[in-house]
Formats: sequence, C-alpha cells, structure tokens
Amino acid sequence: MREPIIAGNWKMNKTNPEARELAKSIAQGIEVSSSSPEVVLCPPFTALEAVMGEISGSEVKLGAQDAFWDIQGAYTGEISPIMLLTIGCEYVILGHSERRSYFSEDDQVVNRKVKAAIQAGLSPILCVGESLEEREKGQTEAVVNKQLRGALNGLSLEELKSLVIAYEPVWAIGTGRTATPQQAGEVHSFIRDLLSRLYDFEVSQRIRVIYGGSVKPDNARDIFNQPQIDGGLVGGASLETESFLGIVNLYPSRGD
Ligand code: PGA
Repeated sequence: MREPIIAGNWKMNKTNPEARELAKSIAQGIEVSSSSPEVVLCPPFTALEAVMGEISGSEVKLGAQDAFWDIQGAYTGEISPIMLLTIGCEYVILGHSERRSYFSEDDQVVNRKVKAAIQAGLSPILCVGESLEEREKGQTEAVVNKQLRGALNGLSLEELKSLVIAYEPVWAIGTGRTATPQQAGEVHSFIRDLLSRLYDFEVSQRIRVIYGGSVKPDNARDIFNQPQIDGGLVGGASLETESFLGIVNLYPSRGD
C-alpha cells in the first residue's frame, strides 16, 4: 500500500508572518486518521524556518521548492540540499514546469538536482508534464517519457526509493483547467509502466505518483479516487487554510 501524500506548493507567496499563520492553522486543522495522507508544506526558502517552528510536533512535514545540484561552493544565490535538510526539510520539489520554463532548467539540470537531493537525504518531488500544444499533438507520453528518463538517468534502484513523481500537465497549472481523472489516470499508468521497464515491477508499484494542476476541494475527490493517483501537488488552493484543508481532510473519505 502506498501512503498518499499531499504537498502544498506556495510558490513565491507569503511573507514570514503570513507563512506562520497559515502553517499554524493548517497544522491545527488536519484531521488525523489511519487513512490520512502525508501532508507537506513547501513555502519559499525565506519562510522555511518560520513554518518549521509552527509544524514541529505535528504530523505536517516540510519541503522546499527547489535546491541546487551541488552540496556547497561558489554558487551565489543558490541553496544546497544539505542546508534544507539541516533546517528540517524532508522533501524538495524539483523540475517544476515554472523552473523549466522561466529558468531554462532542462532534463540534465533536473537530473543533477535529483541526484544531489537524494545524496543529501531529501526526497525529491519530481515534476513532469506536457504543454497544451504537446498534448494536442498527441505527444504527452513522449514528453513524459523523455523528462522521466532524463531526470532519472544514472539513478540506482536504491536511490529511487524516496522519490515521489508529480504528473503536472502544464496546461492545468494555475489555469483552473484540470486533467480529467481519466486523462491523469492514463498518464499515471504510463509512468508506472515506464518505471517498471526502467527498473522493476516492484519499484513501479512502490513509488508514489501524484497529480498536480488546479486541484481544488471540489475536484480533488474524483482525482484521488483514481487508483493510480497517490495524492496531489497543490498550488493556488494551498494558500488558504480552508481550501487546503478541504483537500487534505476529504482524503480519508474519498471513496464515499
Ligand atoms: P495549481 O499549481 O494548483 O495552482 O495549478 C500546481 C503546481 O504548480 O504545483
């Protein structure tokens, strides 16, 4: 059984006082049960410690939105995965489509970052997904195939263990358009098949593959009901306590 996971990607939002308030109310509002998902908050770098202060002692975990591909050195402005680990991060989002498009991160860069994060002891939440144009041209599987092979290049079965994959169709991010549960389910199955071919069946069944792209309280149930989907990476709806808890707290009853 894969433990579901829901991560809130706050992107470039929330000053430290705002971050503290949001983290505190989320930590207080989570209904913990045996079928609750793992919950991860990914605030901006500047708010990581503030958020950690609010969630320590709760079930909520900390993640970052990016990390550099080296452990230390002369890289002005960059943040090392070891730095993230030592302030309490367990997860790091890597290869997000906004990083790929605004900061020209290609598969090779993502691969280096994934390796460094794993080496440091963080669990990467590796994002893959096609643009609208690519979907319309029928290239979804080819794009996801290339991104995944690129990002995982040279990683051993052992190193793969802590990985989470987020399928995020670019056309669904921040647009209010979601992939239908069937569309998402198809790509998730494709991702598992690919993992099985690249590694083995067992690992393909163990790795968590989550969905991202306009997940909201009113569409989350249908998405999470897909057996191949192990949770969500939530952007906009993670910025308010009510909408984020509306997604997290419906999880135990998603089959109703
Ligand atoms: P969204 O963002 O939920 O606002 O579409 C998701 C993401 O970018 O991870």
